Amino acid sequence: MPKLKITGGNTLSGEIKISGAKNSAVALLPAALLSESKSKIYKVPKIRDIEYLLKILEVLNCTYKITNDEIEINTTKLKNAPIPEELSEQMRASYYFMGTLLSRFKKVEISFPGGCNIGARPIDLHIKGFEALGAKVEIIKNKYIITAERLIGTKITLDFPSVGATINLMLAATGAEGRTIIENAAREPEIVNVANFLISMGCQITGAGEDTIIINQSEKKDDGKIEVYPDRIEAATYVILGALIGKDLTIKGLIKDHINAVLLKLKESGVEFLETENSITISACSNPLPINITTEVFPGFPTDVQQPFTVLLTQACGESIITETIYESRFISAGLLNEMGANTFSKGNILTIKGKTPLHSANLYVPDLRGGAALLLAALTAEGTSILDNVLLILRGYEDVVEKLTNIGAKIEIIE
Ligand code: EPZ
Repeated sequence: MPKLKITGGNTLSGEIKISGAKNSAVALLPAALLSESKSKIYKVPKIRDIEYLLKILEVLNCTYKITNDEIEINTTKLKNAPIPEELSEQMRASYYFMGTLLSRFKKVEISFPGGCNIGARPIDLHIKGFEALGAKVEIIKNKYIITAERLIGTKITLDFPSVGATINLMLAATGAEGRTIIENAAREPEIVNVANFLISMGCQITGAGEDTIIINQSEKKDDGKIEVYPDRIEAATYVILGALIGKDLTIKGLIKDHINAVLLKLKESGVEFLETENSITISACSNPLPINITTEVFPGFPTDVQQPFTVLLTQACGESIITETIYESRFISAGLLNEMGANTFSKGNILTIKGKTPLHSANLYVPDLRGGAALLLAALTAEGTSILDNVLLILRGYEDVVEKLTNIGAKIEIIE
């Protein structure tokens, strides 16, 4: 298993270019199946989840051509088939094939999806939505078998604005007769990204990005075309790195509006930076202020950024409180930061961080993707050389992370 060897203490300067968003791209590839001929997706990040999704497309008899960060997917010979467990269990996003295959074939057979261990992460809202559209959902061993004679548009009110359920039901509704209304929909940018892709194929969708989305029946689905949004979580992660150990570090190719909540919390903590619509230039803040953060659905403070932000708060003099409202167990990495000298403790969904605590190196096992990003930021900040194990989890969500960090002066390498 590859490991990361990181020697901290360097000041990081120069430019980091943000890649296409993992959480958009992993929905866009399954969505491409809705086109009856071919689709082009630009700015696809080269990360492991994409490799697995391409393997699933091959199982479904699709062909694809990769040119740099552009993927052209041909679905003219698309054939329904069970999604194998060894692929679907690799990531949570494999569940988007439920919505697309239900829309195209009214039948799906897929094993339970995978995903980071940050909570129970049920998919009851997806299932309830499919059933509302007229589908029958059976669970046989660890497989979902979902079938429908017809999909009939209806009003679906989500108990919680789930990102995955919103996208999955939007995908399924493109194959429904009549009009489907999704109320209490999630508003994350990746929903707008997927909706725009479907609209480019001729689907009739309004309201994506708001809390009510309307999908009207549309006949033929033409060629689709979309550019993956920049990854807002990658961008926020590197902006926080700049606040820790940057010197005029520019993070470019981002969409500032997608990380406003994070930028506001950085300002509240006394961190200064230059901002344009698509870039942030930032230097280390020697004395960040302790602050309180509550994670929310978009446009609130994103749960995926609370773990990296925790590292900055270990350098604030005083007590900070993070309240995690989206997942029930997303503080494992905060506990691991204590092995590097931090002083954090959690009770239920409340994390308390007492700083300022100088960080020192440690050898740690990455518990999940964003927790791994947090440990990476801490190791880059700490004195000494750290070894992080189980780093394939980090490589899943941060394209070219070693190259990008090396280019700005970090001492980091992958070792076996
Ligand atoms: C997406 O997960 C992201 N993953 C997550 O990012 C992100 O943390 C999350 O949205 C929230 O922004 C992808 O896009 C691949 P949810 P998703 O459905 O769709 C509960 C990362 O690090 N829930 O909004 O699974 C669920 O258990 C990953 O990139 C139900 O109870 O998120 C969770 O507690 C981690 N029933 C909460 O809602 C359901 O049917 C949010 O889930 C669905 C969700």
